[in-house]
Amino acid sequence: MMKTADTIKEVRNILDGHRGKSVALVPTMGALHEGHMALVEAARKKGDIVAVSIFVNPLQFGPDEDLDSYPRNLERDLEICRAHGVDVVFHPSEAEMYPKMPELELHLRTMASILDGVRRPGHFEGVVTVVNKLFNIIRPDFAVFGEKDRQQLMIIRRMVEDFNHDIEIVGVPTEREADGLAKSSRNVNLSDTERAEAPEINRALEMGRDMIREGVSDAGEVKERIEAHVEDHASGMIDDLQIFTHPDLNPVQNIDGDVIIFIAVKFERTRLIDNMMVIKN
Ligand code: PAJ
Repeated sequence: MMKTADTIKEVRNILDGHRGKSVALVPTMGALHEGHMALVEAARKKGDIVAVSIFVNPLQFGPDEDLDSYPRNLERDLEICRAHGVDVVFHPSEAEMYPKMPELELHLRTMASILDGVRRPGHFEGVVTVVNKLFNIIRPDFAVFGEKDRQQLMIIRRMVEDFNHDIEIVGVPTEREADGLAKSSRNVNLSDTERAEAPEINRALEMGRDMIREGVSDAGEVKERIEAHVEDHASGMIDDLQIFTHPDLNPVQNIDGDVIIFIAVKFERTRLIDNMMVIKN
């Protein structure tokens, strides 16, 4: 039987009842889809007990971002968790997580000076704050994150290293729709036309990947091709498009090793991100 808790005390009580068993946590903001469930499956392989947290964290949204329009549907989310054999769902209120504005702030030195760290000032500070709190509340042995948000995954790995959390971070490949669009809670905020165009983002990334695999080493040339494809096939505007080395995330002009292509596209009501790792043969 799945148990649910909306207070810290309750969730700790539930987990205390499972003493001796390992816990795998999947942190989410709800509006659950198959991407989240791929994380749940990975969690089940790792831990005896699978815990999912559902909390739309206001700290990680900027003043002009989509906090209000972010999709929320707790009953549906609980149904999905139940159907996937989740053991514990923690769904705290804002007042439970932030009874007062935290006095202490975490800052990122360099990992937030690129990509969404720049486009969304304060976003990753909000993410590491809430994930730190969730780690302290749940005290999991494993925590599972998606490669869809690769910068976030890399930052969390670094946070665990820097702050000595005794938690193994598990990364899960991006789950996609049949047409290639990365599954995202934000996809519901696309119009029908935008939804039809959005798979071109992945298609453009694949084109970039193929160019690199075929020997094109000029990052500028690859980016131009991706940009042209998205501009020709989608009404959304490219908000960001960068190629970085893997795993160091250094900017690259001349591609001579593994890289990650990152893209963000702004549609009318929502901003989508995607990325693709290219392993140089
Ligand atoms: P959310 O966007 O709900 O995503 C929760 C987790 O699901 C993240 O680790 C994300 O990378 C993963 N995910 C989302 N779509 C995915 C897909 N298509 N394939 C694989 N994994 C996918 O990311 C957050 O919430 C928040 O920032 C959070 C970590 C919960 C902190 O508030």
